[in-house]
Amino acid sequence: MKSLKTLGQFIIEKQTDFPYAKGELSRLLRDIGIAAKIVNREVNKAGLVDILGTVGDTNVFGENQKKLDVYADEQFIAALKDGGECCFVASEEQEEGVELTDTGISKNAKYIVCIDPLDGSSNIEVNVSVGTIFSIYRRISQVGEALTQQDLLQTGLRQVAAGYIIYGSSTMLVYTTGKGVNGFTLDPSIGEFCLSHPNMKIPQQGHIYSVNEGNYLKFPQGIKNYIKYCQEEDVATHRPYTSRYIGSMVADIHRNLLLGGVFIYPQTALQPKGKLRLMYECNPIAFIIEQAGGKATTGTERILEIEPEELHQRVPAILGSTDMVNKVLEFLEKS
Ligand code: AHG
Ligand code: MN
Ligand code: MN
Ligand code: MN
Repeated sequence: MKSLKTLGQFIIEKQTDFPYAKGELSRLLRDIGIAAKIVNREVNKAGLVDILGTVGDTNVFGENQKKLDVYADEQFIAALKDGGECCFVASEEQEEGVELTDTGISKNAKYIVCIDPLDGSSNIEVNVSVGTIFSIYRRISQVGEALTQQDLLQTGLRQVAAGYIIYGSSTMLVYTTGKGVNGFTLDPSIGEFCLSHPNMKIPQQGHIYSVNEGNYLKFPQGIKNYIKYCQEEDVATHRPYTSRYIGSMVADIHRNLLLGGVFIYPQTALQPKGKLRLMYECNPIAFIIEQAGGKATTGTERILEIEPEELHQRVPAILGSTDMVNKVLEFLEKS
C-alpha cells in the first residue's frame, strides 16, 4: 500500500527547494487548496443548490457570469485574503483585479495571484468537467510601496508557481513551482489532496488533437492544413488521430498531459488574438506543460516570453506534446 502523502506534507517537504522561503509560498498554496475544496463541494452538488444558471451580469468580456463563476471567484479571493500571503488578485471575473494590501495581514504580502476561478463555465449546467487555473508571481515593488503595473504584468517566465484544479470524475490539483509537475487527488473521506501523480511528464508524441472545429472556416490556413494532416490515413504515424474537445481548457489539457496530444485555440477572423487569456489561462498552463516536457507557443512566439500589455489580454495557444506542437508550427511556416 503506497504511503499516503497529502498536499500539505508534500509542500513542506519540497520547501527545501526554496532555501530562502520562509513558508509564505507554502501557505499560499495551502490557501488555494482550501478554496479548491470549498468550490469542489459546490460543483459536486451544483444541480441541488441554487448555484446553476447565470447571475444576470456580465464580466469584462461580456460573458454572462454564471453563479458558479462568481461563487468560485468569491471563494478564492476570500481564501487569499484570509491567508495573508497575497497582496493582489487578478481574476477573469474582476475587471480591475482586487488589491488586498489594505486588509491587515495582507499589507506585507509579497505574492500576486492571477486566477481563472471557474474555467469551462459553459459546461457547468451539463455536468461536464470544469476547473480553476492559477498563476503566482512575486511582487517586484517593495512591501509597503504602491503596487505598479510592473508588478501585475510580468512575463510567464517569472511565475514562481502555477497550477490547476479539475473538478472531474475525481477532483485533482496539479501544480508546479518550476521543479517538475505533481498531481494530487482529493480524497473526500479525509478532505485532503493526496499525491497520486508524482513527476508528471507529457509524452513527446501523442495521437489526440483538441480544437473547436466549428471555427474551422475562420482558422489560419496553416491550422486548417494541420487538421487535415491529423485526419489523413497513415499507419506509420498512427493517423488519423483522435479528435477530443471538451470545451473546458483544464480538462482538455489534463487529458493531453496524461496521454499526449496537442490543444489548439488559434486566432480567427472574429478573434484576431484568439480567445484564451494570457495571465490566467495560457501562462499557467504553459508553465505546467513546459515543466512536464511539452511546448507552449502562440504560433509565432513562446507563450512564457510574451511581455503582457494588459491584465485580460488574449493570445492564440498551441500547447502540448513537443513533436505535435512542432508539426503545427511546420504547417504554419509552410502556409
Ligand atoms: P472560461 O469558462 O473560464 O471563460 O474559459 C472557457 C475557455 C476554455 O476553458 C475553453 O478551452 C474555451 O473557452 C472553449 O471555447 P469555445 O467554446 O469557443 O471552443
Ligand atoms: Mn469566462
Ligand atoms: Mn477559462
Ligand atoms: Mn473562467
